[in-house]
This record gives sequence, structure tokens and C-alpha cells, in this order.
Amino acid sequence: MKITSSDLAQAADAAAAVASRPLELAVVLPTYNERKNVATMIARLEKALADIAWEVIFVDDNSPDGTSDEARRLSLTDPRVRCIQRIGRRGLASAAIEGMCSTAAPVVAVMDADHQHDPELLPQMLMAVTSGEYDLAYASRFAEGASTEAWGRPDRVKASGLANRIANKVTGVELTDPMSGFFMLRTETLRNDAHRLSGVGFKILLDILATVDRPLRVKEFPLNFAARAEGESKLDQTVVFEFLVGLYDKWLGRIIPTRFALFGTVGGLGVLVQLGALWVLLHHIFGERFVYGNWSESTTFNTANTLAAVIAMTFNFVLNNELTYSDKRLRGFGPLMRGWAQFGVTCSLGLLTNVGSAAVLKTIGIHDVIAVVTGIILGSVWNFALSSKFVWGK
Ligand code: GDD
Ligand code: MN
Repeated sequence: MKITSSDLAQAADAAAAVASRPLELAVVLPTYNERKNVATMIARLEKALADIAWEVIFVDDNSPDGTSDEARRLSLTDPRVRCIQRIGRRGLASAAIEGMCSTAAPVVAVMDADHQHDPELLPQMLMAVTSGEYDLAYASRFAEGASTEAWGRPDRVKASGLANRIANKVTGVELTDPMSGFFMLRTETLRNDAHRLSGVGFKILLDILATVDRPLRVKEFPLNFAARAEGESKLDQTVVFEFLVGLYDKWLGRIIPTRFALFGTVGGLGVLVQLGALWVLLHHIFGERFVYGNWSESTTFNTANTLAAVIAMTFNFVLNNELTYSDKRLRGFGPLMRGWAQFGVTCSLGLLTNVGSAAVLKTIGIHDVIAVVTGIILGSVWNFALSSKFVWGK
């Protein structure tokens, strides 16, 4: 990119303007593949926030389309533009939290970067939280006077209605749109409790309201939820799953950590897969009477069961990579093969722990069922610890 002297003059002006007034508002824009929306968003913020000292923070998860590069390019000549580029991470909620914690501004807003949220609402929202009358202002797609027609997604509108009712029940927070990604609050409100936010999924607003100790006074603004400007939604495929995971996290996450619960559920499905695969192999592939060619019955069984275990292990690896560790997902042939092999070793060690501890418990006279269940739990914890550290750890 070429920087001209007029760019530099403009940058100097912007820097002087910024330095002459203390920062009032930070706007955090989590991004994933939003390169084409970056410049236009900044222009809209500039227009909406003409009388306010603001900065914008793009929190980009290393988007392949070069969103971070684009934000940095604009940041060169405009110090109000900042960019946090996260490597090897994914997630809307954690991006929002990190962005909110990274500013010195007394007030912080979070919005979508795809133009679905109208920045013209920001000044009114700022007024609501700086007046001291409200702790949090947010834009609701479902408040009176709001609209979602332009969104063009009746399926999502319906799903949101149901999700909102469940979310309100679970958290005791009554909002028309607890899943909204457009809100503003004083940074101090958040800072003390930021470490207690889960960072899982996308329901960050709900999480803030349910986590902060005292009840927050909330001001609702009706939003005309627009159509996305460029690119496509990232939440479409995962929105239901993430919602359920988020609910679990809030309910039971402190007792059994969410990631471990997911890992355990995937493991349980793996058991079913192994049984199913074994059945198919014995009945349909290894011949009629469970005997393959001139193999003995036990050789046939053990071979089939080993294959079934490898199939189940592979199934678990794929599912854990997609769901349990979606924020650290391994991609590309090399990393996937290495991860699969490491997961295989981890599972073998886990199996030894499982069977070994059950055997020890049994010899000291513990009841069979308790010994076996304890073995399964110890084996799973071991698997989980090793996988988190070696397969999906960095
Ligand atoms: N850093 C980061 N990491 N940003 C992300 C990620 C991620 O993994 N996933 C999505 N984003 C960013 C997008 O780039 C966009 O700026 C914003 O988060 C919203 O994502 P969309 O993909 O546009 O979501 P949507 O329009 O389908 O979902 C809307 O409804 C949700 C609730 O139903 C949004 O308004 C969400 O904010 C809202 O929670
Ligand atoms: Mn969107």
C-alpha cells in the first residue's frame, strides 16, 4: 500500500484530535472473514460518532480473508482503529470479552461487523449508560418498534423466539432479545467479573447479565436488524449447538466443566459406535458364524473388535475436533493425521488406566460395578487431560 502525504496529514489530524480529548467510547467488533465490511463500518462509525471521542477494536480470529490486514491498513492512518489478531482461536464470546478488556475507554460497546447492527444507535446508548440511569444499553431485534424483516431469515427469527424463552427462564433475566450481539456498558461494570464470564459460544450479553453479581439496570433500544452487507453468517451451522452448550455451561459448567462434559458425551457415543461397528463387522464382513476363513473364533473376534475400536476412536477424534475443541480445531491433512495418531496413543493409555485401575480396585475387594465405573471415570479424565494438553494443546 502507498501512503501519500495527504494520508499522513490526515493521520496527524486524527491523532491530534484523539490526543486532545480523553477517549469516551470503544466499539468492539468481533470479526471472522469480514474484510469487505471493515472500511465501510469505520466510515459509518465516523458518521454516527461525530461528536464523541471513540476507538474501534477489531478482534479478528486470524480470518483467512485477511480481515486483520485490512484493519491494520486502515489503522496506519487512523489511530482510532485497533486490531487484535488472535491466532489458533475461534469464538464470538471470547473475542468480545478480550476486546472489551483491551480498552482504556470508560464505556465499551460490542456490535457485529457485518452491518446488521445500526451504529446510529450508539450515541443514544452512550447517553443511557453515561447518565448513570442505566448500567447497560442494548439493541433488541424483538422489542416493540424493532424489525427483523430485512434480515430475510424467518427460520432464525423463529428459533430466536424459542431460545429467548428458554434463556430467560434459565437465567431469570427478562429481556426481549437476550441473544443480541449489540450492547454497551461501562467498562468497570465488566472488569471485576470478566474472569468469571465463560467465553463459550456466542451468548455474551446473557452471560454478562447472569454473571455480574448485582442486577443491572437495562435500557432496551428497538433495532431494525438489517441484512448482512458482505460475506456470510458464521453462526448458522452452530447456532443451536452453541446455544445448548452455553446453557449447559451456565447451569452445570462449574460442577462438571463444559469441555469435559462434551468430551465425555462424545466418548459415550464412541462406545455405541464401537458396538455397532463390531456387530456389522462380525455379521456382515467376517462371515456367517463369526469365523473368518480359517481363523479361530477368538482371533476373528479380537481382530473385529480392534478394528471397531479404531473406528470408534476415529469417530471420537473427528467429533472432538469439530465440537469439543472447535475453538482449537486442527485443520489440513498433516495436523489432522498427527492429531489422530496422538489421540490414538492417548486413548490407548486411557484404556490401560481404565482397565488397570478397575483391576486394582477389584483385587482389594471393591464391588465389580464400582470398580468398572471408577475405571471408566479415571480413564476418561486421563484421556481428557492428555488430549487437552497434547492433541489440541498448543
Ligand atoms: N472473532 C470472531 N470469532 N468473530 C466472530 C466469530 C468467531 O468465531 N464468529 C462470528 N464472528 C463475528 C462475525 O464476523 C460478525 O461480525 C459477528 O461476529 C456476528 O456473526 P454472524 O456470523 O454475522 O452472526 P449472525 O448474524 O448469524 O447472528 C446474529 O444473531 C446472533 C443470535 O441469534 C448476530 O447478531 C449475533 O451477534 C447474535 O448473537
Ligand atoms: Mn450477522
